[in-house]
Amino acid sequence: MRLALIGYGNVGRALARLLRRKRREFPFTITGIHTLRHGTAVDADGLGEAPAFGPRAASIGGFLDAAGAQIAVELTTLEPSTGEPAISHIRAAFARGMHVATANKGPLAHAYAALREEAARAGVGFRFESAVMDGAPVFNLWHSCLPGVKVLGFAGVLNSTSKVVVETMERGGSFQDGLTRAREMGITEADGAFDVEGWDSAAKTAALANVLMDARVTPQQVSTRGITRLTPERVLEMARQGKTVRLVSRGRRTSNGTSLRVRAEVLERSDLLACTPGTSNLILFDTDLMGTFGTVSIDPGVEQTAYGVFSDLVNLRGL
Ligand SMILES: NC(=O)c1ccc[n+]([C@@H]2O[C@H](COP(=O)([O-])OP(=O)(O)OC[C@H]3O[C@@H](n4cnc5c(N)ncnc54)[C@H](OP(=O)(O)O)[C@@H]3O)[C@@H](O)[C@H]2O)c1
Repeated sequence: MRLALIGYGNVGRALARLLRRKRREFPFTITGIHTLRHGTAVDADGLGEAPAFGPRAASIGGFLDAAGAQIAVELTTLEPSTGEPAISHIRAAFARGMHVATANKGPLAHAYAALREEAARAGVGFRFESAVMDGAPVFNLWHSCLPGVKVLGFAGVLNSTSKVVVETMERGGSFQDGLTRAREMGITEADGAFDVEGWDSAAKTAALANVLMDARVTPQQVSTRGITRLTPERVLEMARQGKTVRLVSRGRRTSNGTSLRVRAEVLERSDLLACTPGTSNLILFDTDLMGTFGTVSIDPGVEQTAYGVFSDLVNLRGL
């Protein structure tokens, strides 16, 4: 199947590497790549390892038409306050009868219900496994393995940057040292403030609630407080008491909708939510038929994000 990639940064390049590695078993071909500053590349026979970028296509529609692909892969930068321009990219693909896979949580956090309905009307698939917890099964788990199970709530430690900042302060470093370290590890969003102020977690919380609980909210409706007020002194004091801090995303159904919040929570070291170090992520779901269970991902990297997108492509191939 032919793919049109919108965005070719860390995830786009990792996906291209994975596709090359698996091309015998899964013969996907990238026929177009569209970026913001690096221009656009199109080749109906498939772009190679070093795509030749020319001038940027004048519009997303023009790019998608030129690429002639069956699946659009949306991998542009997260814009947590609006979800754009990714939402418009996805709509342009649906309007051309193309399936969409994305790792961008913005569209799920701002427009999931509308996009789901638009995909159904267009008769195309819409997949987004990597939008939360990289390639670890979260959304496809419900889709494929848990028919009839209702999500009553969730609690997740989903932001790696804030955890690296806390761990750096526990070792005697400053808040800024932690942020610098997270940047060096390549795990911050384009703007690191999105992570520590809680925007990344709010977008993930809204995305989870919209997809799994039909909440129809935006990140602005998630009650959010980040970790920016934490000081090394406070973190070290808690460490002496056997406690730590995690930026926790929580959602639960209520009698009149959903209650959603992101908070820097003080947890016992032995708390399950405090157990995952570094870039590891964990989410626990509270359900009607399956009790409480969860997904854990230990030290995921961009290769795992690329795998989540790849799993979406394989699923879309069957449609
Ligand atoms: N990195 C991760 O581990 C990870 C994990 C889960 C989810 N995600 C999500 O995956 C997405 C991509 O992440 P990334 O780390 O690959 O980001 P990135 O390295 O910053 O790359 C973003 C890409 O999008 C392009 N782009 C930005 N705005 C565009 C526009 N308006 N039109 C066309 N292209 C545009 C950029 O073009 P230029 O190259 O020209 O600047 C760049 O190629 C984000 O939404 C992120 O939240 C990432």
